[in-house]
Amino acid sequence: MTLHSLFPTLVYAAPLQHRGARGFNRQLLKECLQLREDDAGGRRWSAKNYPGGYTSYGSAHRLHLISPTFEALRRKLQRHVKAFAAAAQWDLTGRELTMTDCWVSIMPRHVVHGLHLHPLSVLSGTYYVQVPAGSPGLKFEDPRLDRFMAAPPRKADARMENRPWISLPAAAGRLFLFESWLRHEVAPNPVATERASVSFNYGWL
Ligand code: NI
Repeated sequence: MTLHSLFPTLVYAAPLQHRGARGFNRQLLKECLQLREDDAGGRRWSAKNYPGGYTSYGSAHRLHLISPTFEALRRKLQRHVKAFAAAAQWDLTGRELTMTDCWVSIMPRHVVHGLHLHPLSVLSGTYYVQVPAGSPGLKFEDPRLDRFMAAPPRKADARMENRPWISLPAAAGRLFLFESWLRHEVAPNPVATERASVSFNYGWL
Protein backbone atom coordinates (compact mmCIF):
# COMPACT_ATOMS: atom_id res chain seq x y z
CA MET A 1 0.00 0.00 0.00
CA THR A 2 1.17 3.53 -0.74
CA LEU A 3 -0.22 6.57 0.98
CA HIS A 4 0.77 9.64 -1.01
CA SER A 5 1.03 12.95 0.78
CA LEU A 6 0.32 15.41 -2.03
CA PHE A 7 0.20 19.21 -2.41
CA PRO A 8 2.32 20.27 0.55
CA THR A 9 2.11 23.78 1.98
CA LEU A 10 5.63 25.00 2.58
CA VAL A 11 6.53 27.22 5.51
CA TYR A 12 10.20 28.08 5.68
CA ALA A 13 11.71 28.88 9.09
CA ALA A 14 15.35 29.82 9.65
CA PRO A 15 17.62 32.19 11.51
CA LEU A 16 18.31 35.17 9.24
CA GLN A 17 22.03 34.95 9.91
CA HIS A 18 24.38 32.92 12.01
CA ARG A 19 26.23 35.79 13.63
CA GLY A 20 25.57 39.42 14.42
CA ALA A 21 21.79 39.16 14.77
CA ARG A 22 21.75 41.01 18.06
CA GLY A 23 23.48 44.13 16.74
CA PHE A 24 21.43 44.09 13.55
CA ASN A 25 18.19 43.79 15.51
CA ARG A 26 19.20 46.64 17.80
CA GLN A 27 19.54 48.93 14.78
CA LEU A 28 16.30 47.63 13.22
CA LEU A 29 14.37 48.12 16.47
CA LYS A 30 15.69 51.67 16.79
CA GLU A 31 14.43 52.46 13.28
CA CYS A 32 11.08 50.73 13.88
CA LEU A 33 10.46 52.84 17.00
CA GLN A 34 11.69 56.01 15.31
CA LEU A 35 9.38 55.37 12.37
CA ARG A 36 6.42 55.07 14.71
CA GLU A 37 7.40 58.46 16.21
CA ASP A 38 7.73 60.14 12.81
CA ASP A 39 4.93 58.49 10.85
CA ALA A 40 1.75 60.36 11.84
CA GLY A 41 -0.08 59.03 8.77
CA GLY A 42 0.85 55.48 9.71
CA ARG A 43 -0.33 55.98 13.29
CA ARG A 44 -3.69 57.23 11.98
CA TRP A 45 -3.91 54.26 9.58
CA SER A 46 -3.03 51.87 12.41
CA ALA A 47 -5.64 53.38 14.75
CA LYS A 48 -8.30 52.34 12.22
CA ASN A 49 -6.85 49.07 10.95
CA TYR A 50 -4.57 47.74 13.72
CA PRO A 51 -6.11 48.94 16.99
CA GLY A 52 -3.56 49.52 19.75
CA GLY A 53 -0.64 48.63 17.51
CA TYR A 54 1.49 50.35 14.91
CA THR A 55 2.16 49.21 11.38
CA SER A 56 3.65 51.11 8.49
CA TYR A 57 1.74 48.88 6.02
CA GLY A 58 -0.59 51.73 5.03
CA SER A 59 2.08 54.43 4.91
CA ALA A 60 5.79 53.52 4.71
CA HIS A 61 5.58 50.08 3.06
CA ARG A 62 8.71 50.19 0.92
CA LEU A 63 11.24 50.61 3.67
CA HIS A 64 13.93 48.73 1.74
CA LEU A 65 13.96 51.64 -0.72
CA ILE A 66 14.43 54.38 1.88
CA SER A 67 16.53 52.88 4.69
CA PRO A 68 19.96 51.25 4.33
CA THR A 69 19.14 49.03 7.32
CA PHE A 70 16.02 47.63 5.66
CA GLU A 71 17.93 47.32 2.38
CA ALA A 72 20.51 45.27 4.33
CA LEU A 73 17.65 43.07 5.54
CA ARG A 74 16.51 42.61 1.93
CA ARG A 75 20.01 41.50 0.95
CA LYS A 76 20.23 39.08 3.88
CA LEU A 77 16.86 37.59 2.88
CA GLN A 78 17.91 36.83 -0.68
CA ARG A 79 19.49 33.45 -0.02
CA HIS A 80 16.45 32.35 1.99
CA VAL A 81 14.07 33.40 -0.78
CA LYS A 82 16.16 31.43 -3.27
CA ALA A 83 16.08 28.40 -0.98
CA PHE A 84 12.28 28.58 -0.75
CA ALA A 85 11.93 28.82 -4.54
CA ALA A 86 14.27 25.83 -4.91
CA ALA A 87 12.34 23.77 -2.35
CA ALA A 88 9.05 24.55 -4.14
CA GLN A 89 10.73 23.82 -7.48
CA TRP A 90 9.38 27.01 -8.96
CA ASP A 91 10.29 27.56 -12.59
CA LEU A 92 10.85 31.31 -12.58
CA THR A 93 11.51 31.31 -16.35
CA GLY A 94 14.37 33.78 -16.04
CA ARG A 95 12.44 36.27 -13.94
CA GLU A 96 13.26 37.02 -10.34
CA LEU A 97 11.48 37.15 -7.02
CA THR A 98 11.73 40.81 -6.10
CA MET A 99 10.84 42.49 -2.82
CA THR A 100 7.89 44.79 -3.49
CA ASP A 101 6.91 45.77 0.05
CA CYS A 102 8.59 45.83 3.42
CA TRP A 103 6.90 47.24 6.51
CA VAL A 104 7.06 47.33 10.29
CA SER A 105 4.59 45.94 12.84
CA ILE A 106 4.73 46.74 16.54
CA MET A 107 2.36 44.94 18.89
CA PRO A 108 2.01 46.26 22.44
CA ARG A 109 0.14 44.24 25.04
CA HIS A 110 -3.33 42.92 24.05
CA VAL A 111 -2.88 43.81 20.37
CA VAL A 112 -3.98 41.14 17.91
CA HIS A 113 -3.39 40.67 14.21
CA GLY A 114 -6.39 38.82 12.78
CA LEU A 115 -6.46 36.24 9.99
CA HIS A 116 -5.25 37.64 6.71
CA LEU A 117 -3.31 36.85 3.57
CA HIS A 118 -1.08 39.09 1.45
CA PRO A 119 -2.81 40.03 -1.80
CA LEU A 120 -1.01 40.84 -5.07
CA SER A 121 2.09 38.88 -4.03
CA VAL A 122 3.79 35.56 -4.59
CA LEU A 123 5.93 35.04 -1.52
CA SER A 124 5.60 36.70 1.88
CA GLY A 125 7.30 36.48 5.21
CA THR A 126 8.18 38.00 8.53
CA TYR A 127 11.44 38.67 10.32
CA TYR A 128 11.36 39.03 14.10
CA VAL A 129 13.18 41.95 15.66
CA GLN A 130 11.97 41.78 19.27
CA VAL A 131 9.92 38.92 20.69
CA PRO A 132 9.48 39.01 24.47
CA ALA A 133 9.07 35.70 26.29
CA GLY A 134 5.41 34.68 26.33
CA SER A 135 4.42 36.61 23.20
CA PRO A 136 2.68 34.65 20.44
CA GLY A 137 4.10 32.91 17.38
CA LEU A 138 2.66 32.92 13.88
CA LYS A 139 -0.47 30.83 13.39
CA PHE A 140 -1.15 29.30 9.97
CA GLU A 141 -4.46 27.93 8.73
CA ASP A 142 -4.96 24.91 6.47
CA PRO A 143 -5.69 26.50 3.07
CA ARG A 144 -8.31 23.79 2.35
CA LEU A 145 -10.40 24.59 5.40
CA ASP A 146 -13.31 25.97 3.37
CA ARG A 147 -13.60 22.67 1.50
CA PHE A 148 -13.69 20.33 4.47
CA MET A 149 -17.49 20.05 4.39
CA ALA A 150 -18.21 16.87 6.36
CA ALA A 151 -14.61 15.94 7.18
CA PRO A 152 -14.19 14.76 10.78
CA PRO A 153 -12.14 16.95 13.11
CA ARG A 154 -8.52 16.03 13.71
CA LYS A 155 -7.33 14.41 16.89
CA ALA A 156 -5.98 16.85 19.46
CA ASP A 157 -2.57 15.17 19.26
CA ALA A 158 -2.59 14.80 15.44
CA ARG A 159 0.74 15.08 13.67
CA MET A 160 1.68 18.63 12.68
CA GLU A 161 0.92 18.08 8.99
CA ASN A 162 -2.60 16.90 9.80
CA ARG A 163 -3.66 19.77 12.00
CA PRO A 164 -5.92 22.52 10.62
CA TRP A 165 -4.02 25.26 12.50
CA ILE A 166 -0.38 25.39 13.45
CA SER A 167 1.38 28.02 15.54
CA LEU A 168 5.09 28.27 14.91
CA PRO A 169 7.08 30.02 17.63
CA ALA A 170 8.52 33.45 16.88
CA ALA A 171 11.94 34.46 18.18
CA ALA A 172 14.14 37.48 17.61
CA GLY A 173 16.43 36.75 14.67
CA ARG A 174 14.12 34.13 13.10
CA LEU A 175 12.28 34.46 9.83
CA PHE A 176 9.36 32.74 8.15
CA LEU A 177 8.62 32.54 4.44
CA PHE A 178 5.37 31.23 2.96
CA GLU A 179 3.28 31.61 -0.16
CA SER A 180 1.24 34.81 0.00
CA TRP A 181 -2.14 33.04 -0.24
CA LEU A 182 -1.59 31.20 3.04
CA ARG A 183 -3.80 32.70 5.74
CA HIS A 184 -2.14 33.49 9.06
CA GLU A 185 -2.68 35.46 12.22
CA VAL A 186 -1.02 36.57 15.43
CA ALA A 187 -2.85 35.97 18.72
CA PRO A 188 -3.01 38.81 21.28
CA ASN A 189 0.30 39.72 22.85
CA PRO A 190 -0.23 38.96 26.56
CA VAL A 191 2.98 40.50 27.87
CA ALA A 192 3.89 44.11 28.64
CA THR A 193 6.92 44.27 26.34
CA GLU A 194 6.24 45.16 22.71
CA ARG A 195 6.68 42.61 19.96
CA ALA A 196 8.34 44.06 16.85
CA SER A 197 8.64 42.47 13.42
CA VAL A 198 9.25 43.34 9.79
CA SER A 199 7.08 41.76 7.11
CA PHE A 200 7.64 41.69 3.38
CA ASN A 201 6.16 40.67 0.06
CA TYR A 202 7.82 39.44 -3.10
CA GLY A 203 6.51 39.62 -6.62
CA TRP A 204 7.58 37.51 -9.59
CA LEU A 205 8.90 40.27 -11.80
NI1 NI B 1 0.83 38.80 7.42
